[in-house]
Amino acid sequence: MIQKILSQENFTKEDIVQLLNCSKEEQILLFEKSAKVKEKYIGNYVYLRGLIEFSNICIKNCFYCGIRKDNSKVSRYNISDEEILEATKFAYENNYGSIVLQSGELQNDTFSDRIEKLITKIKSISDNKLGITLSCGEQSEETYSRWFNAGAHRYLLRIETSNIDLYKKIHPNDDTHNWNKRLDCLISLKKIGYQTGTGIMIGLPFQTIENLADDLIFMRDFDIDMCGMGPFIEHIETPLYQYKNNLYTLEKRLNLTFRMIAILRIIMKDINIAATTALQAIDDIGREKAIRIGANILMPNITPNEFRDKYILYENKPCTNESSSDCKNCIDVRMKIAGNTIEYGKWGDSLHFQKQSE
Ligand code: 5AD
Ligand code: SF4
Ligand code: FES
Repeated sequence: MIQKILSQENFTKEDIVQLLNCSKEEQILLFEKSAKVKEKYIGNYVYLRGLIEFSNICIKNCFYCGIRKDNSKVSRYNISDEEILEATKFAYENNYGSIVLQSGELQNDTFSDRIEKLITKIKSISDNKLGITLSCGEQSEETYSRWFNAGAHRYLLRIETSNIDLYKKIHPNDDTHNWNKRLDCLISLKKIGYQTGTGIMIGLPFQTIENLADDLIFMRDFDIDMCGMGPFIEHIETPLYQYKNNLYTLEKRLNLTFRMIAILRIIMKDINIAATTALQAIDDIGREKAIRIGANILMPNITPNEFRDKYILYENKPCTNESSSDCKNCIDVRMKIAGNTIEYGKWGDSLHFQKQSE
């Protein structure tokens, strides 16, 4: 049955639902197709983004997240500028090509100024050679512009779900957790000229397969340049933990994530798709499988060791006891096993974005 769908140029929502619900045998065809699309349009290459989780202080209270503001069990940290620059140097010296600065959400002038200065410094110590992706939440258009002008060129802001009702169920009902505002942020980012990335969580309580199909359609219609999506993994210190018995099994969430990646690769052939860390929290070779199926971005952790076990958004997060060098040595072997080559020293911009800018 799915052969016919896979032979089409484009998919309807019903097609996507059918692909997400396909049998184990049909899944083989889906993954073969997405792997072929990847090979044809972007090649079997992986680009690195050294990930610095520089602060777990957050003003928000997302019901799923381990570092939400009201989780008093978290010991909060904010890595110094010097340490961030040290980590950046590691990425530069090891030829990673790009870094991601990620943190909990803060919205104030001190934070905006700090990030702006950091971007300028990172650009200067790396001779303008390191690409910079930001993942620092919702900000004003002015702040986004300042960061862009300082030299950041990609921004990740997950919409978390494209369905407003579901969004309301997994966030507090107040003005800081507003789906429309989040969408406005994505619109601003795109307008400013960032390569704009978004994503969702897969296997959330109350989420349906139709919701997931809509998420893919949202990404296609918004014409994103990058995507990072991963399985939802419950965290005991969060409100959504109460639904732990009503969730898909972890294996099913993992498998659905692979299917989502495969379908997204087929419908958005030349975007960047990350093999996210949450995949590895469920399956030791989850990221490698994602790379085989269609993902092309890997984000090795380069957060200084002592802070890693404090940035725990979900349970069983990998690499919390490893150092940046451990992760570096590990990924080379892993990507070889996945039949892909790491493109060291390249920015690895989204081809999708490049084509539109030409
Ligand atoms: N499980 C999986 N992903 C999570 N995130 C936050 N909490 C969880 C969780 N429990 C994801 C969100 C957020 C990103 C930084 O991490 O999608 O945007
Ligand atoms: Fe803060 Fe992001 Fe966690 Fe929400 S998901 S509580 S914004 S760190
Ligand atoms: Fe961190 Fe393997 S990627 S130890």
